[in-house]
Amino acid sequence: MADQLKRTWCGEAHDGLVGEKLRAEGWVFRRRDHGGLIFVDLRDRSGVLQVVFNPDMPETAKAHELAHGLRAEYVIEVTGKLRKRPEGTENPGLPTGNVELYAESLNILNTSAPLPFELDEEASEYLRLKHRYLDLRRPEMLKNIVLRHKTVKIMRDYLDTNGFLEVETPMLTKSTPEGARDYLVPSRVNPGQFFALPQSPQLFKQILMVSGLERYFQIARCFRDEDLRADRQPEFTQVDIETSFMSADEIISLTEVMLKEVFRQTIGVDIKLPIQRMSYAEAMGRFGSDKPDLRIKRELVDMAEPAKKGTFKVFLDALNSGGRVMGLRGIGMAGLSRKEVDDLTNSVKEMGAKGLAWIKIKGGFDSPIAKFFPQEALEEMARGLQAEEGDMMLFVADTEKVTLNVLGRLRLELGRKYPVDFKKDEWSLCWIADFPLLEWDDEEQRFQAMHHPFTSPLDEDAQRLLTGDMADKALLSSLKAKAYDIVLNGFEIGGGSIRIHRQDVQSRMFEMLGIKPEDARMKFGFLLDALQFGAPPHGGLALGLDRLVMLLAGADSIRDVIAFPKTQKAVCLMSGAPSNVEPKQLRELHIKTTAETSGPEK
Ligand code: AMO
Ligand code: AMP
Repeated sequence: MADQLKRTWCGEAHDGLVGEKLRAEGWVFRRRDHGGLIFVDLRDRSGVLQVVFNPDMPETAKAHELAHGLRAEYVIEVTGKLRKRPEGTENPGLPTGNVELYAESLNILNTSAPLPFELDEEASEYLRLKHRYLDLRRPEMLKNIVLRHKTVKIMRDYLDTNGFLEVETPMLTKSTPEGARDYLVPSRVNPGQFFALPQSPQLFKQILMVSGLERYFQIARCFRDEDLRADRQPEFTQVDIETSFMSADEIISLTEVMLKEVFRQTIGVDIKLPIQRMSYAEAMGRFGSDKPDLRIKRELVDMAEPAKKGTFKVFLDALNSGGRVMGLRGIGMAGLSRKEVDDLTNSVKEMGAKGLAWIKIKGGFDSPIAKFFPQEALEEMARGLQAEEGDMMLFVADTEKVTLNVLGRLRLELGRKYPVDFKKDEWSLCWIADFPLLEWDDEEQRFQAMHHPFTSPLDEDAQRLLTGDMADKALLSSLKAKAYDIVLNGFEIGGGSIRIHRQDVQSRMFEMLGIKPEDARMKFGFLLDALQFGAPPHGGLALGLDRLVMLLAGADSIRDVIAFPKTQKAVCLMSGAPSNVEPKQLRELHIKTTAETSGPEK
């Protein structure tokens, strides 16, 4: 009987098995009927194997007869002899391309309805997400799932070897302080009360340190109700780490070695350690971003000095009101048409700038604003920007925040659009450190924690925090945190900090943030209580697993490395979640909604 044979994975059929009888199971990927012979590319998780149905041999004729009925994605079991492919018919593009299975028996295990899209052709993301079970059959998607599995396994093994314990923390919990909107879950048994799904395990992992676990990790699902982008999902996964008695340097180096292992074992890339570090101030000043893509070489350059030598009002006004004038080299852009320059100006305005000043270098300095500057100032600008004949110099004058932000975004856009100084295949890793502890929130007119309120100030700043004048904005803005982010190719793939473990510093921090003691108690009382009982010095970080795997996979969106992702509008096209629920369920939960009970189809 056929089943007595052990199953061979399609992808594992190779020259060494030629002449042997094999049994394979899988899906009909492609079927080609050549009148006589019928060829089927049989696919299982491991790969593809060519199966041949031959009408002319007594032992294969019956299977051939049946094979006429095969259609795409039928599930079949085939038994037969593995043969070498006839010379000239090998397929070097296929790992099993030297061999083929001559079917002696065919068993159709299941049929398939016609597919809504071809698995080996481009399909709209809508169709792919709606029929994700089919999309995941595509070899490139499977590859991403395998890569994700491997990445997690490497990190888990590495952390285990280094004495870390994997601990699960609750999903039904209280709001965490990561700053996004919470997903709430109503409590049936406590009318009117809600759990929050964790934005991260932050409070619990700190409590595990108070509990003496010393080294914790978790592959942790996190939930944040925020505006979605290609690198943001409402639920995503962190490789979450917390340690006691380790310095920021030690946590950083532990993470680096782990990442090095991941790169080596998954994509065979050798990352040089130590990974470079840059202060937040330097990253902002040179690249206009706290997650600089260092594969793009050009940098932002301060243009205050040459600007002061001219009479261009836009520049002088910005400088006089405490703002900045900065420039960026537009490599090879002197030939841009009027319309192209206008489009660029418009995109810069959309980013929040008032305009874009430009000077082309074409034989001389060519620009409507060139007349406002002496030759010497124009040359100084070109020198500063390392701009040459054929380039265009681009300038923004505004508040520091707007100038850096806009030119930072322009740098990315130009770097990727005109990739003269951009090496797509490079891997650029970088730590950003010395973040400000606090960030001024113009809207709320108060300081916010740049990371979260448990982030420790630098040792030299802790005293200034304790004794400083709370109204002294300059002082508070100058405090630095023991926080660090790790950036890969312009994406923040992780971040963490050393935490505050002293009660007096923590109370003062809340005070600075305008969080009243009773509010702090209500929100984080359990952590504050725990910190009183011999909390060790501790800190950690969390890596964004989805983003890391996306980059390793060369994918454009984290949706491609998550088995069942949500759309930009935070819906699951496959299951139809979120959806309306029965009125009875709402009554049990003591909930009345003001929304329509039957919404339009998503
Ligand atoms: P943070 O909020 O910086 O830190 O998150 C850590 C990392 O998680 C990833 N990430 C996301 N990935 C996909 N979709 C999202 N919506 C999303 N939001 C964040 C990023 C980010 O760097 N508790 C702290 C960590 C700590 O201090 O130890 C935290 O959650 O790659
Ligand atoms: P205007 O004097 O408004 O005609 O502007 C002259 C040039 O300066 C135009 O190219 C504007 O886009 C540009 N410009 C205006 N405001 C700014 C600004 N804040 N920073 C840089 N360029 C600007």
